[in-house]
Amino acid sequence: MSRPTHRIAPSILSADFARLGAEVADVIAAGADWIHFDVMDNHYVPNLTFGPMVCEALKPHAKTPAGQAVPIDVHLMVEPVDALAAAFAKAGADYISFHPDASTHVHRSIQAIRAAGCRPGLVFNPGAGLEVLDWVIEDIDLILIMSVNPGFGGQGFIDSALRKIEQARKRIDASGRDIRLEVDGGIKADNIARVAAAGADTFVAGSAIFNAPDYAAVIAAMRAQLAG
Ligand code: DX5
Ligand code: ZN
Repeated sequence: MSRPTHRIAPSILSADFARLGAEVADVIAAGADWIHFDVMDNHYVPNLTFGPMVCEALKPHAKTPAGQAVPIDVHLMVEPVDALAAAFAKAGADYISFHPDASTHVHRSIQAIRAAGCRPGLVFNPGAGLEVLDWVIEDIDLILIMSVNPGFGGQGFIDSALRKIEQARKRIDASGRDIRLEVDGGIKADNIARVAAAGADTFVAGSAIFNAPDYAAVIAAMRAQLAG
């Protein structure tokens, strides 16, 4: 089956929060395909970030210099899921992903995200298996494999994620559906090629991009690795 083209999704978790709109515009001008938006609630994960009001404020900045909209990829690390997912749909999210262990009714949460006009995704922690996909792969547009434990940027890549990406790729190919396979945590230019070789097509990178002086150089180095 043909692979969709690669997408690079900078996580604004590592951006300068004092100038978030400019950071979003700058990283898009530097070549970002999506904006990854990490929502933490100090309950599901031991950290607290930003909510739907910040998403709504950033939405007008999520476009290319030519004015084309860039998808906002909301990664919910919150429990429960449904009320915040609905609020993010209203706030301009394009993809909304959640951790299945954070929702009592996973299928219902997926349906609600779709009904609100967004693309639903499921996120799998390093210790989580993919079994729930037996029942919901027909209903989602994104699978997000965590290659760190959720909650913080700047952690090291956990190698077992590669096996999980391979398993997820097999499930996607068997489903025949157009589902993006995203990986999140510890992605850098020097490991992105092996992550792609395992089957991922969408790459979150926070600290690797925003902690560098030249965002475009990092994104170009990642694309060069993906092309090679
Ligand atoms: C972690 C977040 C990630 C984080 C990745 O909970 O989901 O998106 O920003 O940061 P890096 O790329 O620095 O590992
Ligand atoms: Zn994330």
